[in-house]
Amino acid sequence: MKISAITIFPEYFAPLELSLIGKAKESGLIDFAILNLRDFTDDNHHTVDDTPYGGGAGMVMKAEVWGDAIDSVLPTSQTISDLIILTPAGKKFSQKMATEFARSEHLIFACGRYEGIDSRVTTFYQSQPKVRVHEVSIGDYVLNGGEVAALAITEAVVRLIPGVIGNPESLIEESHNEAGLVEYPTFTKPPEWRGLQVPEVLTSGNHGAIAKWRLEQAEIRSQNARGD
Ligand code: ADE
Repeated sequence: MKISAITIFPEYFAPLELSLIGKAKESGLIDFAILNLRDFTDDNHHTVDDTPYGGGAGMVMKAEVWGDAIDSVLPTSQTISDLIILTPAGKKFSQKMATEFARSEHLIFACGRYEGIDSRVTTFYQSQPKVRVHEVSIGDYVLNGGEVAALAITEAVVRLIPGVIGNPESLIEESHNEAGLVEYPTFTKPPEWRGLQVPEVLTSGNHGAIAKWRLEQAEIRSQNARGD
């Protein structure tokens, strides 16, 4: 998979070198391109924003600059690219979306700042046959820009790519899998810590009883934490 990210703060993407994502990059499973949006400006000040038509507070990111930056990462081949525009006004990111994005050949993250990107950028790329456009939010809160959202989505997606996680079994059992439940509580040694015991069933060796207990706990936890 290729992942391109366009941002005015390329330094935000330094953590991609770490941990499993760093290893996936080293082993060639993923190819990252982090582009500085200001490299696509043509004025001395490297201007990426301007005042909004219709008035109002804040600045809007310029369509020409974004268009040139996005065009520069679109492959000339028949590859379909998924253009992910990060915005608090987008569709809420989910494990289901992560699964869809994990099947993509090319993800492009457009990390907007200020009051967002000129809306014509979304409209234009929606009309392009080799681009699928997704406006995505990582939650109902406002960040200063899309960079942290792009990192969160990258981490959720990359770990689903075959070969990235050593033990694929762990993907099946974890929270937000197909059963729609969050994960059951987990314990490790010692059997007693600060007066708290590990639930007896987990040390019983009875696999059927353990599976039943875990399912019940996952249901209780899902209900308590997330009535939805
Ligand atoms: N940019 C600002 N806030 C955001 C959010 N919640 N999700 C995605 N991109 C954003």
